Amino acid sequence: MDTQNVPAELKSYFDSAHIALALAAVTADNPLLLVNAPFHKLTGYDATDVVGRNCRVLQKDAENREARAKIRAFLEDDRINAVRTTIVNFRKDGRPFVNLLYMSKLKALSGEVRFLFASQFDISRSQPELLSAYDTELSRTLSRLSPTLVESGIVIDGSLMTIANTVATVAQAKLTLADLDAPGFP
Ligand SMILES: Cc1cc2nc3c(=O)[nH]c(=O)nc-3n(C[C@H](O)[C@H](O)[C@H](O)COP(=O)(O)O)c2cc1C
Repeated sequence: MDTQNVPAELKSYFDSAHIALALAAVTADNPLLLVNAPFHKLTGYDATDVVGRNCRVLQKDAENREARAKIRAFLEDDRINAVRTTIVNFRKDGRPFVNLLYMSKLKALSGEVRFLFASQFDISRSQPELLSAYDTELSRTLSRLSPTLVESGIVIDGSLMTIANTVATVAQAKLTLADLDAPGFP
């Protein structure tokens, strides 16, 4: 996979971030271009495992119908700048988790989408206060990313959507995880 076109400042930004980040191409089936160390820690997959592949590899056999429809709507519609959804994922070792996935578009000044940006967080094994700390870090990452990218003529499109009810979202994720961990789940 050709990662040559990823601006150097974006690469180094990914390497310095404390939260899981992934960057994908806008070409057919959105192959991953970059994943960082926190992504590896969270998912068990490193760059050699996933670069060049679509990130749906994390879903294994989970259906995730609603979440995938939301993501596809975001990918297909230029007017949708960002999406946030929970989605059932599996670590490389097979352990399930509920991923709170944030995605947005990195655009050229002309408005053309250059890259797809995403951040992942295991909401099912976390507490509400950790989620709000993550949200703060994600907001910070997004706001620090913008000036970094200006030099490459890229603007980040879509601000962080806050979760209406953090406690309920975490509770739902735990319920989902309990189902996934229950004996009999494929
Ligand atoms: C940059 C980027 C990161 C993504 N990260 C994840 C992820 O962590 N987990 C996941 O389940 N899907 C992730 N996706 C979404 C899937 O790759 C895919 O777009 C989604 O499953 C909808 O397409 P499908 O219905 O064809 O599978 C990511 C997509 C992009 C572009």
